[in-house]
Amino acid sequence: MRKPLIYISRKIPSDVLEPYQNQFQFRMWQKEDPVPRSTLLQEIEEAEGLFCTLTEKIDRELLQKATNLKVVANMAVGFDNINVELAKEHGVIVTNTPDVLTETTADLGFALLMATARRVVEANNFIKNNRWDNWAPFLLAGSDIHHKTIGIVGMGRIGEAVAKRAKGFDMPILYHNRTRKLEAEKKLGATYVSFDDLLEKSDFVVSVVPLTEETNQLFNEAAFQKMKDSAIFVNISRGRTVDEEALIHALETKQLKAAGLDVFVNEPIKGEHPLMKLDNVVCLPHIGSASMETRTKMIELCLENISGVLLGTGPKTPIN
Ligand code: DGY
Repeated sequence: MRKPLIYISRKIPSDVLEPYQNQFQFRMWQKEDPVPRSTLLQEIEEAEGLFCTLTEKIDRELLQKATNLKVVANMAVGFDNINVELAKEHGVIVTNTPDVLTETTADLGFALLMATARRVVEANNFIKNNRWDNWAPFLLAGSDIHHKTIGIVGMGRIGEAVAKRAKGFDMPILYHNRTRKLEAEKKLGATYVSFDDLLEKSDFVVSVVPLTEETNQLFNEAAFQKMKDSAIFVNISRGRTVDEEALIHALETKQLKAAGLDVFVNEPIKGEHPLMKLDNVVCLPHIGSASMETRTKMIELCLENISGVLLGTGPKTPIN
């Protein structure tokens, strides 16, 4: 009998597939770049399982071709690249990778916050460009982090992990979320506020919201206008939660002090992107969960999810 076929849309280490070789057959896209859409559409016609990443769109066109498909395992906690409702109608289970990346992503979020506030990248470039001639009282002076107010938008697992780090820096913690998180309030001393209050009162505004219809361009011109002109904006969720033109305008006109961004509206961005021209911006190439340990755990969780569905024991972290 034919073993169920799992298509893997990105190159991953083949040794992680070893434990599954007896039960499944695998096909994997072998280049470092994302799989071309036309190849994916062809491969999906036969596959029972799909291992994909946020660069693949799982939409109507794909699901219509995927007549054998039972499970899509997304190697990310966010799943805005997938039409989850439609997948359900097609009888396809969708899974993501929560929990395993929480602490790693919060580490990166906090690193970005600190790097932006203390101008770490600018300072590093300053030396590399041979511009360090003297110590000076205000040379590359940034903003304090400790005791400043942090406003976390989206108090999910990663939001809480960011708050835990902020607590260690004695930062008053404000948060906004669809629902109140009483446990988190107790544990972390976080205060629930309206979105507008958070924008007005925070020294650091950190976006950790999932991208949905409601959060699309949540951070727009009006939002940036409400923020303090000394505030720093950090985004580790999805680029589309931000109106990027409004952000650029706010940074250029000093309505906003600085921004630390791991995500962008259209990824990847290149050197000529307007954000790259601003000294008060630190940009990272969407590496929130990118530690060796965590990326390995994410891959393993995807394989467990696919195998659970195809062998009938059930997925560990289903979305739909
Ligand atoms: C996620 O998990 O959603 C990240 O953005 C990708 O690592």
